[in-house]
Amino acid sequence: MEVDEEGVKTGDRCSRLYYLVKLFRPSNPYSSLRTCCFRCPGLAKPKPKRQRFEYAGAQSTQVGDHWGIPGVCRVVLITGGSRGMGLEVARQLAGRNAYIVIVARDAKRLEEALVCIKEKAVGRRFQRFHAINADLTDPNAAQRVMREVVEWNGGKPPDVVWCCAGSAHPTLFADTPAEEFKAQMESNYLSAAYIAQAALQTWLRIPTPPSPSNPKARHIILTGSTVSFYSIAGYSPYSPSKAALRSLADSISREVHLYAGANPKEPEIKVHTVFAASILTDSYERENLIKADVTKKLEEADKSQTAEAVARKSIVGLERGYEFVATDFLTKLVMTANMGGSSGRGGFWRGLGLWVVGCVMSLLLLVVRGGQDRVVRNWGRVHGASGFKKGSGRNAG
Ligand SMILES: NC(=O)c1ccc[n+]([C@@H]2O[C@H](COP(=O)([O-])OP(=O)(O)OC[C@H]3O[C@@H](n4cnc5c(N)ncnc54)[C@H](OP(=O)(O)O)[C@@H]3O)[C@@H](O)[C@H]2O)c1
Repeated sequence: MEVDEEGVKTGDRCSRLYYLVKLFRPSNPYSSLRTCCFRCPGLAKPKPKRQRFEYAGAQSTQVGDHWGIPGVCRVVLITGGSRGMGLEVARQLAGRNAYIVIVARDAKRLEEALVCIKEKAVGRRFQRFHAINADLTDPNAAQRVMREVVEWNGGKPPDVVWCCAGSAHPTLFADTPAEEFKAQMESNYLSAAYIAQAALQTWLRIPTPPSPSNPKARHIILTGSTVSFYSIAGYSPYSPSKAALRSLADSISREVHLYAGANPKEPEIKVHTVFAASILTDSYERENLIKADVTKKLEEADKSQTAEAVARKSIVGLERGYEFVATDFLTKLVMTANMGGSSGRGGFWRGLGLWVVGCVMSLLLLVVRGGQDRVVRNWGRVHGASGFKKGSGRNAG
């Protein structure tokens, strides 16, 4: 039996925790948010609705087992956890008893985020939180982060690695500074690939202590976007990096079967990808400053979501065991129509169902694509080639 730094057996602590949390749960789990000193976009109108698996340690034999968070005391490493979606994910998982480690470059923002995450913790006396300052576009930094987490966690690797770090530079291909293509691949694709690889290597290197019950699965979660499946004019520097993430997830999800076969007593490794449309974060506001007007026109049908909603929907999808999780209806449709080599992620029957819906959607997308091409062509005819409206100050024509 493992003993934590306070000398309490981890197993004892976990089982006691469930009853303690039930006893002392505040009537409104969001009440502490009002005192939160850090601005959390998306939390302005919290819904005091109980989550399906919140505090559900005793029910963890249900589908939540895929995810493991309800089993309490799981260690979740979240890259990009200092703001936006990553911070929201961290807060919501802190509300599900997880131990949280966040990683980002800005040290001050990390400290502020930790305060904000602790506000949401249900078991503040025993839940642990940690922040690591690192630029994940450096592969050595990713390895260092993993070593630091293992050290902080008493020699054990994290159970879940959720890669949220990233950024978008949405501009037309012809207008994009050449260095931005590299920067976008580093920020979105490589930052996730490096830390996912470091996690996998650590899991393969450090054997899991024998346990009488089945060890819970470990999870790599990547953060994609609608444009991982379906790009539109004005996302050429960004969408290839998100499409690459989807492809990476597909490849790793196949390779992990090798390790499951070779080490049947080790926890299984699951690979998931979350796909979101526009998320109302500070970065999204900044992106809109450089985004071409024609791109905004094409995005009109996209219903932006708060970071709170995206995190909540992602977690629900992951708890259901889905390997691909779309957080809004339109993304779900384009994802289903564009599964290609990703078909079958999540099992045969789910794959078959998605294939049927995908066939119908592929037909519909023929019409959508034609319509969008017409919008872009007409835009050029009316406003010229800049992508911006005539008279907007950014249209030289
Ligand atoms: N916002 C959207 O509309 C939207 C839509 C679909 C998908 N997404 C994806 O969702 C994820 C989160 O988006 P968001 O809008 O929440 O972003 P955000 O608010 O800009 O937050 C990005 C986070 O990643 C960190 N980060 C960025 N580059 C990093 C690096 N090289 N090393 C370590 N940390 C780094 C940032 O902290 P530091 O800057 O301090 O490092 C910050 O914590 C991204 O992957 C994004 O591509 C966003």
